[in-house]
Amino acid sequence: MYKIPLARPAIDNSEIKVVSKVMKSKWISSRGAYINKFEKKFKSFLGGGYPISVSNGTHAIQLGISALGINPGDEIIVTNLTFGASINAIINCGAKPVIVDIEKENWTIDLEKIKEATNSKTRAILIVHVYGIACNIDEIKKFSKRKKLFLIEDCAEALGATYKNRKIGLDGDCSCHSFYANKTITTGEGGMVVFKNKNTYKKALKIKNHGMSSKKKYFHDLVGSNYRLTNIQASIGFEQLKKINKLIKQRKKIFNFYDKLIDDKYFQKLPKNNWSTNSYWYYVIIIKKKNNRNKFIKYLNKRGIEVSPTFYPLNSMKTFKKYSSGKYLNSNYIGKNGICLPSSGLKKKEQTYIVKALNDAKNIF
Ligand SMILES: Cc1ncc(COP(=O)(O)O)c(C=O)c1O
Repeated sequence: MYKIPLARPAIDNSEIKVVSKVMKSKWISSRGAYINKFEKKFKSFLGGGYPISVSNGTHAIQLGISALGINPGDEIIVTNLTFGASINAIINCGAKPVIVDIEKENWTIDLEKIKEATNSKTRAILIVHVYGIACNIDEIKKFSKRKKLFLIEDCAEALGATYKNRKIGLDGDCSCHSFYANKTITTGEGGMVVFKNKNTYKKALKIKNHGMSSKKKYFHDLVGSNYRLTNIQASIGFEQLKKINKLIKQRKKIFNFYDKLIDDKYFQKLPKNNWSTNSYWYYVIIIKKKNNRNKFIKYLNKRGIEVSPTFYPLNSMKTFKKYSSGKYLNSNYIGKNGICLPSSGLKKKEQTYIVKALNDAKNIF
């Protein structure tokens, strides 16, 4: 147990009360009023789309890929800097991931690399707004349209982020969200996939529920699976959405504090630009002096601060190496030298303690 954990889910009396209400109602599986209420509220937060609640963020991606009709053997281009769920979802659907590098400045997938990786087998681009940073959406979208490729947005870390003043999650053919405990809002485990096209949405609704016809019980129109979220989880999500703007604001304050007080001389910070805002998920720092990360993590852990390394670049792991080619210099730099700091639910005293520990650490380099 750390004195300061990496994430603090914002659970209070409102979630406890609603869970108790749902338990008493006995509607505890995936039927019940909160499924629809949660999806409707999510749609209103994003400002459109056709959302479907699912069991987790990984299944959101898998359901998206299946409903778009991407088949085994089809290729999906994916970034090298992401949590393994993005690529696992592709592989689990039988498609072939093709890993490309990130932009040096923005840390998100590099359009030039996407262009190089595109061929006749490419069916989709899976962009990840990693660490809440908006991808270069307009340019990627233009390219995907020109090449008739599906655009899938992995927004697991980016709920509430904006791009050119619009919320992230409505640009792709589908966007995929996670409600794991460390995310902007949580349902314990849970996710949402939001479709642009109503027919694809209808197909996905079936796949989510074993491919069963909505009109004829136990009659299967399609091969599907069980991607369902429970009514209990949906009720938590519904309550969380009521306070999402407040939660984002609190996170932003913590980011501003870190921005101001962490020493730039030793640490590179998250990218910033004038066309997007972060979701303020995890505050990431890159240790400028290379090969110090493990020492640094140990040092912070010893002071009771839980931190995590940035994602190991996919190409650096044996499991995924076969889907890569080349060097991936940018993602390897971020993936091998970065640390995620506690970024939610922190008291001012804790923020000050973390900053002091970081700036004091100069002498361990
Ligand atoms: C970028 C990214 N994609 C997908 C996922 C998968 O979400 P989940 O853990 O809800 O399956 C996560 C999260 O944990 C993530 O960070």
